[in-house]
Amino acid sequence: MRDGHGRVIDYLRISLTDRCNFRCIYCMPEDGLSLMSHDDILRIEEIEAIVRAAVRIGIRSVRLTGGEPLVRKGVVDLVGSLAAMEQIDNISLTTNGVLLPQMAGDLKRAGLSRVNISLDTLDADQFTEITRVGQLESTLAGIDAALQTGFNPVKINAVTVRRLNQDFLAFAKMSIDRPLHTRFIEYMPVGSSGGVDGTGWGHEDVIPSEELLQIINERAAAEGLPELVPLDGKDKPLGWGPARYFAFPGAQGTVGFISPLSRHFCSECNRLRLTADGKLRPCLFSDEEIDVRTALHDGGEDAVYECFLQALHLKPDEHHDKVGTERNMSQIGG
Ligand code: GTP
Ligand code: 5AD
Ligand code: SF4
Repeated sequence: MRDGHGRVIDYLRISLTDRCNFRCIYCMPEDGLSLMSHDDILRIEEIEAIVRAAVRIGIRSVRLTGGEPLVRKGVVDLVGSLAAMEQIDNISLTTNGVLLPQMAGDLKRAGLSRVNISLDTLDADQFTEITRVGQLESTLAGIDAALQTGFNPVKINAVTVRRLNQDFLAFAKMSIDRPLHTRFIEYMPVGSSGGVDGTGWGHEDVIPSEELLQIINERAAAEGLPELVPLDGKDKPLGWGPARYFAFPGAQGTVGFISPLSRHFCSECNRLRLTADGKLRPCLFSDEEIDVRTALHDGGEDAVYECFLQALHLKPDEHHDKVGTERNMSQIGG
């Protein structure tokens, strides 16, 4: 179905929990956030009912997010029941990877199609600095597990922040020998958490994708590597998101750029979001939400379907460079 601006909406991002086993500096304050209570979080059966209504407006791809979706009890069962819905073509998951070594096999058997793994640096000390509590090896083990289990494509999400001075070429080179799709994401002003040093998000920390592409090509040339070449439709990894893809000639994987700030992709937006406490969110950057959980309790799946129609109608044309949202990223699900 189309929204009020003529865009086809076929992708639903579902946040399963606001809890996380990391505390990334750009996502949460150090002492965490006040968490949703268990009673406020959608039960697995409620999520299934909401997705049954979502397919009636044409949702065909579902992504499970968090917080960290793999800390949510029942996630494997949920994947199984979503996979059993014949209208759903693709079920994906965005995770920090820590729990993949123990869960990847079960998720795959349940019907999960693919995984995107968040990893912002390949330097062990910087990894612990960014995640505050994480160990680089644990996310690297998650990436290995995802590949060994046969997920395809496996994408890596790296949020780029200028003052963190990450080693971008090292990331891009991960795509050469392994079928990994690294995506560099412009740092977005979502939530109100302290930002990378407690002073909040700032424009000066955003590295526009065009500049980053140039930096990577210059550093690659210095190492005798060829330039990244843009990929067209058939060579891009499967996905429903806004990334633009490139590759080193002959590489097994790709290098993508997600540019919400330097190149608005709102005109191509195809998604709605469901928060863990049952609010339907038409836009990442807008605090306008529809209480779909209450609708389900009061009016069943038909009332939820009406909520989806309302969300289509409410979707704004673009984010108008809004800075900050009431909810943090871990509460919205990215
Ligand atoms: P696929 O392309 O289908 O693999 O997924 P995706 O890129 O949509 O999902 P993922 O959860 O990996 O998101 C990657 C980054 O894109 C995250 O930083 C998201 O916050 C960001 N993103 C996803 N959807 C939107 C959107 O509608 N607007 C903005 N501004 N950013 C988004
Ligand atoms: N800007 C861009 N991406 C972000 N993510 C979390 N916070 C931000 C932000 N402020 C990313 C995570 C994860 C995805 C769901 O969103 O790293 O990969
Ligand atoms: Fe957790 Fe992802 Fe937020 Fe990091 S970005 S704290 S891994 S939800």
